[in-house]
Amino acid sequence: MTHDVIIIGSGAAGLTAALALAEKRKVLVLAKGELTGGSTAWAQGGIAAVLDAGDTFENHIKDTMVAGAGLNRLETVEFVIERAPHAIDRLVQLGVPFNTEDEHLHLTREGGHSHRRIVHVADATGWAVQEALLNAAKANPNITLLPHQACIDLITGKHEQRYSGSGRVWGVYALDETTGKVVAHTAKATVLATGGAGRVYQFSTAPRGATGDGIAMAWRAGCRVGNMEMMQFHPTCLYNLEVKNFLITEAVRGEGGHLLNPRTGHRYMPDYDERAELAPRDIVARANDAEIKRDGLDYVHLDISHQPAEFVKGHFPNIYEKLLGLGIDMTTQPIPVVPAQHYTCGGIMIDLAGRTDLPGLYAAGECTESGLHGANRLASNSLLECFVFGEAAAADILARWDEFDAPPPVRPWDASRVTDSDEEVIIKQNWTEIRRFMWNYVGIVRTTKRLERAAHRIQMMFGEVEDYYGHFRVSTDLIELRNLLQCADLIVRSALARHESRGLHFTLDYPKTLAVAKDTVLVP
Ligand code: FAD
Ligand code: SIN
Repeated sequence: MTHDVIIIGSGAAGLTAALALAEKRKVLVLAKGELTGGSTAWAQGGIAAVLDAGDTFENHIKDTMVAGAGLNRLETVEFVIERAPHAIDRLVQLGVPFNTEDEHLHLTREGGHSHRRIVHVADATGWAVQEALLNAAKANPNITLLPHQACIDLITGKHEQRYSGSGRVWGVYALDETTGKVVAHTAKATVLATGGAGRVYQFSTAPRGATGDGIAMAWRAGCRVGNMEMMQFHPTCLYNLEVKNFLITEAVRGEGGHLLNPRTGHRYMPDYDERAELAPRDIVARANDAEIKRDGLDYVHLDISHQPAEFVKGHFPNIYEKLLGLGIDMTTQPIPVVPAQHYTCGGIMIDLAGRTDLPGLYAAGECTESGLHGANRLASNSLLECFVFGEAAAADILARWDEFDAPPPVRPWDASRVTDSDEEVIIKQNWTEIRRFMWNYVGIVRTTKRLERAAHRIQMMFGEVEDYYGHFRVSTDLIELRNLLQCADLIVRSALARHESRGLHFTLDYPKTLAVAKDTVLVP
């Protein structure tokens, strides 16, 4: 099937691009599982933008660069931050019901921000944003939304029926999860907006589908990826044996929450950093990890019970209800929390127009390395990145439309030599194994020896997974396993290549930060 533009992903980045493109072009949006299955719907804290009279773009730029430990590209940081107020304006026009106070948007605070600058919809900002974007997309006759399509690989020159040598990307092969058939979707331009690779780790706040599919597809097609070692761990994921990946927003600390050692009751963050609980995430996550490891704890405590009960319930109604259902009253009790993987800072290298290395292929959002986050993302800068780059990619596609060739005939998916799998257990075993060794060997604190062990395991698994992929019919689980392994490899290779500790990459073998900040760029 041929379309004007294909967008893979229906989160903040994908739908922003779709809405902008649909002013002139017909757009097909593909999503794995449900349309609300990405991280966007799960975002809690909010979106960062300079909206307060006492705040400036320079402050936001500086905070972003400090959190990113100097690895950010200044040009990108300026590009995104200066467009933030406009992005918020557009969301307001789409009907996102941001919290207000005295007729102004209410601004909350999060770690690493020197000012209050986070607009939010209570503690469920992402759901409100996802809903508004989705409603607008559904109402737009130029947008076709197709859920339950697990994209497998990009269609490139090697899939053309008559090889043209153009080096272009022409679309994607996608498994229709409802029929089990693989369909070749072609278009003049393709946008990857597939989110992060958080599920490569055993403990993650990210949804089940965050398996780095877009990053792996782009890499296999020939794109460079950057800074994949920069995996962000959120300091405060709920510790609960039943509910494994429920985030407790950083805004709880922004509104006065303290981190306490549950054994001694000591508020320890001031011992680690002068910004205490509002230090950037890498510092707070490492402090939590250090307390847990030193005292052999299962968790640390996050306590906001010293604030008035009505204030807590008013700011965090969803978290309050969720915890109450689990027997924790956050207005009177501390919350048990642990660090967990949260955000993929690295990804597909893009320029300011969202262009990747391959003609016809764009990317936006968490699957990219745009230069915004550097070595550590500043809280609430990521939804912002989705809006700015979703729109930038769309603008570039529209501006270049007349330069784009129509897609040539491509080869259909060949399933003639595969059979149904009779050993699904292999997929499950490999999934579990990757996520476990990534957590244990490639986590918050790293060593070269542990990274090398992980690299060794990955090399052994590549053969097994490719063999399985070559012999059995694809399923979403198999597609994801193949991509998880690919991402694990990119993360470990990047971590081994960085001989310093910077931001989120902290290694006992190279504890110092080098004078010059350099991207880790892997070339296929
Ligand atoms: P996503 O929203 O993750 O969407 C990815 C899309 O790609 C989905 O539609 C998915 O189905 C699709 N997809 C993936 N693989 C395939 C495939 N193979 N085939 C077809 N489709 C595919 N950031 C903030 O700025 N502020 C916050 O308050 C905040 N809170 C967060 C809270 C949580 C719990 C989490 C996990 C993240 C939070 N983040 C926050 C980060 C932010 O939510 C994400 O970075 C952002 O939503 C990513 O948007 P995206 O459009 O790039 O991808
Ligand atoms: C949070 O609410 O703590 C998450 C914010 C973010 O990831 O930017």
